[in-house]
Amino acid sequence: MHTSDAAVTTRGLLKDFGTGDSTVRVLRGVDFEANLGEMTLLVGPSGCGKTTLLSVVAGLLDKSGGDISVLGMDTGTLSGSAAVTFRRKNLGFVFQQYNLLPALTAAENAAVPLLAAGMSRKPAISKAKELLERLGLGARSDARPNQLSGGQQQRVAIARALIHEPRLVVCDEPTAALDHETGHTVMGLLRTAAVAPDRAVIVVTHDSRVFEFGDRIAHMDDGHITHVVKNLETQMEKN
Ligand SMILES: Nc1ncnc2c1ncn2[C@@H]1O[C@H](COP(=O)(O)OP(=O)(O)OP(=O)(O)O)[C@@H](O)[C@H]1O
Ligand SMILES: [Mg+2]
Repeated sequence: MHTSDAAVTTRGLLKDFGTGDSTVRVLRGVDFEANLGEMTLLVGPSGCGKTTLLSVVAGLLDKSGGDISVLGMDTGTLSGSAAVTFRRKNLGFVFQQYNLLPALTAAENAAVPLLAAGMSRKPAISKAKELLERLGLGARSDARPNQLSGGQQQRVAIARALIHEPRLVVCDEPTAALDHETGHTVMGLLRTAAVAPDRAVIVVTHDSRVFEFGDRIAHMDDGHITHVVKNLETQMEKN
């Protein structure tokens, strides 16, 4: 694959927390790639730096050194407001805890990125309902988060991550709070909805039961990517 297929590339990426004597280097020279048209899984032991790497890729944390490119943009050098604009347009997020707003309905939660981008309420809600329908939640779009099961809440969070059609979706342990079957459903939905020739998904997971969904599995340990394993089955399906 040539470099234009890269959704994310990092080279020698560093991230330190703290200052002076108490500085801890958490990303210790990360060389990571995620390709367009693929779901890349990021796996490794607790504390090895997965969430930190995902946060730097997503622009939620600044890097301390090294190089990073996201969708062809050198995001490490974007100024504050340019970074926010880039993120709003191009990125979607799914977290382990769904971070839904309790006072809003499922459809309103899913519509948040559109409303934040200035779309008026009616078309935003109607688009959210359409997407929830596709994710199998049409009948629940007026429910509030506390009236939904964990798997249903995670599907609302996925709708919110996808509704503005971002080219890169990053997910931190999206199945951790879900049972096996619901976890499979959620990963399948993410694959179908967010992987396309010019789009990519990165999923941090501890859960070996969902490894089959990844096109590539990047293994991380102690602040480094140690090796990357291709999923021959999904690679064959693509060819
Ligand atoms: N804001 C912070 N300040 C100081 N240290 C931090 C901070 N955030 C994370 N760390 C440390 O960085 C290391 C990596 O944390 P990170 O959350 O990236 O791990 P992880 O691989 O996602 O682990 P888990 O699988 O448990 O979620 C840990 O040792 C953690 O204590
Ligand atoms: Mg983590």
